[in-house]
Amino acid sequence: MVNNKYSKLLDNKIMATLFFEPSTRTRLSFESAMLRLGGKVIGFQTRDVSSVKKGESIADTVRTVENYSDIIVIRHPLEGVARMAAKFSSIPIINGGSGSAEHPTQALLDLFTIKEECGTIDGLNIGLCGDLKYGRTVHSLAYLFSNYNINLYFISPASLKMRFRITDWLRDKKMKFKETEKFKEILPILDILYMTRIQEERFLEPEEYEKVKDVYILTEKDLDNTKENFRLMHPLPRVGEISPDIDKSPKAVYFKQMKYGLYLRMALLALILKGNNFV
Ligand code: CP
Repeated sequence: MVNNKYSKLLDNKIMATLFFEPSTRTRLSFESAMLRLGGKVIGFQTRDVSSVKKGESIADTVRTVENYSDIIVIRHPLEGVARMAAKFSSIPIINGGSGSAEHPTQALLDLFTIKEECGTIDGLNIGLCGDLKYGRTVHSLAYLFSNYNINLYFISPASLKMRFRITDWLRDKKMKFKETEKFKEILPILDILYMTRIQEERFLEPEEYEKVKDVYILTEKDLDNTKENFRLMHPLPRVGEISPDIDKSPKAVYFKQMKYGLYLRMALLALILKGNNFV
C-alpha cells in the first residue's frame, strides 16, 4: 500500500497522457503521481480514440493538447516521436517510451531502485539480460550507467545484442562491459540481474521470435547460485523469463521497482512543474 496522503503541490496543473502504445505501469503511475500531487489528468490510451486515427499529425496533436494541459507524457511505437513532439510543444514533454529506442523515466526509476536496494551504484556487477536490441529500457539504463563506475554484462542471444550506438557510446566513456550469451555462468558474480522480456511485438519475422523466446528462463533454483545480497530486477511486463516461484524471494525486487516508479514520477512532475524549490 502507498501512503494515502495527497498533496496540493500541483493543484492548478493538468497532465496529458498521450499513449499510442499499450501500457500499464508507465501511464497509470504517471497518472497516479499527478493525482497524488493534487493535479488533474486528461488523455487517451490508444491511437484509435484520438484524431490521429483520422490522419492528424503528431505535430498538430501536440499543438492542440498544449492548450489544454501543462505537461504531456507521450508513448509511441516509432523511435524519435517524443523528441519530435518536443520541437512542436511550448509545454514540457516527457518520453514515456519511444519505440524500441528509449524509456528514460524507466531508467531513472531503475537507478533509484538500485540505490535503494544496494545503497550504492558504483562498484556493482550488473547484468542486463534478454532482448538488448529491442528492449528500450536497457538502452536508456545503459546511458545512465555510463555516469557510474560499474562492471556491466550484456547477456543476450547473438541476434539481440546491445545496439552499436550504445556500445560505442560506452567505449567512448571508457565504461567496462562484456557481452555474452550465457547468463548462468556469470550469475554467481552479479549484484544485480536486470531481466527483460523478448519484445515479440518488435520482430519483423515471427519465426525469429520463436527461435529466441525461451532462451533465458530464471527459476527459483538459479537463485541458489547468487550472492546473498543479489537483487533481481525487471521493468515488467514479464511473460515467461522469470518463474513466479521467485516472486516471494527477498532477492526479487521487481514489484518494489514498479512502486518506486510512482515515487520517482511524483518527484519528476514536481521538479519539472515547480522547479527545485518544491520541498
Ligand atoms: N515498464 C513499463 O514501461 O511498463 P508498461 O509497458 O506497463 O508501461
